[in-house]
Amino acid sequence: MSAALKIGFTPFGHPHGVLVVFCAEGLKYGPASQRLLAPLGDQFRRAAAADRFTGKSGTSLDIVVPTGLHVPRLLVIGIGKEADLKPRDIVKLGGIAMGKLPNAAAAATIFAEFGSGALKGNQVADLALGARLRAYTFDLYKTKRKEDEQRPSKIEVTFACSNPASAEKAWAQNVTVADGVVLARDLVNEPANILYPGEFARRASSLSKLGVNVEILDVAAMKKLGMGALVGVGQGSAHESKLVVMRWNGGKRGADPIAFIGKGVCFDTGGISIKPAQNMEDMKGDMAGAACVVGLIHALAARKAKVNAVGAIGLVENMPDGKAQRPGDIVKTMSGQTIEIINTDAEGRLVLADVLHYVNKRFKPKFMINLATLTGAIIVALGQEYAGMFCNDDRLAERLSKTGEATGERVWRMPLGAEYDKMIDSKFADMKNTGGRWAGSITAAQLLQRFVGKTPWAHLDIAGTAMGSPQTDINKSWGSGWGVRLLERLVEDYYER
Ligand code: BES
Ligand code: MN
Ligand code: ZN
Repeated sequence: MSAALKIGFTPFGHPHGVLVVFCAEGLKYGPASQRLLAPLGDQFRRAAAADRFTGKSGTSLDIVVPTGLHVPRLLVIGIGKEADLKPRDIVKLGGIAMGKLPNAAAAATIFAEFGSGALKGNQVADLALGARLRAYTFDLYKTKRKEDEQRPSKIEVTFACSNPASAEKAWAQNVTVADGVVLARDLVNEPANILYPGEFARRASSLSKLGVNVEILDVAAMKKLGMGALVGVGQGSAHESKLVVMRWNGGKRGADPIAFIGKGVCFDTGGISIKPAQNMEDMKGDMAGAACVVGLIHALAARKAKVNAVGAIGLVENMPDGKAQRPGDIVKTMSGQTIEIINTDAEGRLVLADVLHYVNKRFKPKFMINLATLTGAIIVALGQEYAGMFCNDDRLAERLSKTGEATGERVWRMPLGAEYDKMIDSKFADMKNTGGRWAGSITAAQLLQRFVGKTPWAHLDIAGTAMGSPQTDINKSWGSGWGVRLLERLVEDYYER
């Protein structure tokens, strides 16, 4: 729901609109920028001195109507030491550049080079990805604009580079990732009166336009399968629970798929174990795991990824009600295992228990990765910088960690073990849904692990990273769309044939 952003690529040449150049520490900028900025004479150096700008990372220099340059504004963005730049920093720089454009700007040209010269096509496309993500806003429900918040209805951002064709080609892939992230953010930002399970399922079905096979299971179908845990969570809501299964088959016919599972609690009041009022509105985002799965499948299908992938999301609303489940209730899962409900606010693991088992049994995937805003405790442990990763397979864990570093959507591995597993044994049932105050994120993960069998599996607890994120250089909105970039890259780097 952003102002239309038009991204283009062109050879280095005369800029259109606001001119953006990058500058390394020691005021080093690239050859094309040097040529372009020659008419400025020593204005650049004097402006830099006046502003004590040296090209340090995170700083910038803004020169309005620069002499002899026929652009309204020259923005110089510090990148620090070029040798220190990681791939994920390039995406970030695209975001920073976009963020520095004044609200009034309708056009900008970004010179895609650093001190040592022009960027490669895929690096230029990474800049563009950062710019696109930074430009995202969610203002669907704003009917008025303050004067200084007004933006032109269309913004044109052009990347000047040495090989526009190769940048264009890399962008064709990056844009599918950007669209996936935007889709996930839109879903997370939507309020729960609009985005209830049925509506969420409808939006997920629109992936069928990309060739994704979408099935929607209603409560009757889920009851038939024996999904007592998932159905129990939603039984206090006026909105019917749904299970959505999305299949993208771009890989070898019949090859085992990889699977992604999302927690889709469209609103989490806590149920009968009701949450305090403070910040409860944030629980409209308790479906961020499901949003990420939809965004990911969108990205994979849009670029026709050569992989067979399953996305499955359990969509419920956790409400207090005469029909709601109670603490002490015992539910039977599809796997046959029983769970005693100690706290109705520990609902995400109940939803996932049934979806994980269902996916494992039906699809026999090579691996399963689930995403869930599962515990407040993971925010206490890791804040908003890393998602918690729980994994029964070292190779998968290693790949996730590495890809996290590369994309900037980082994961921190947390322990699993028999001692923690014991903490959810129940007096009355096979297990209980909480393990007490200590190690809250781990005991939640232990419950999930009881439903994945021997399949390689990772659980990403994204309660800290998915929403209300620290405003980053590539996201100013509440929902972050966290996980789409991480998993899209994981698939591309390791699982496409
Ligand atoms: N959806 C919440 C977790 C959460 C908290 C996500 C804050 C995002 C921000 C989850 O369903 C929940 O309520 N977890 C409880 C578990 C407890 C009752 C064992 C929690 O973390 O307090
Ligand atoms: Mn809860
Ligand atoms: Zn929840």
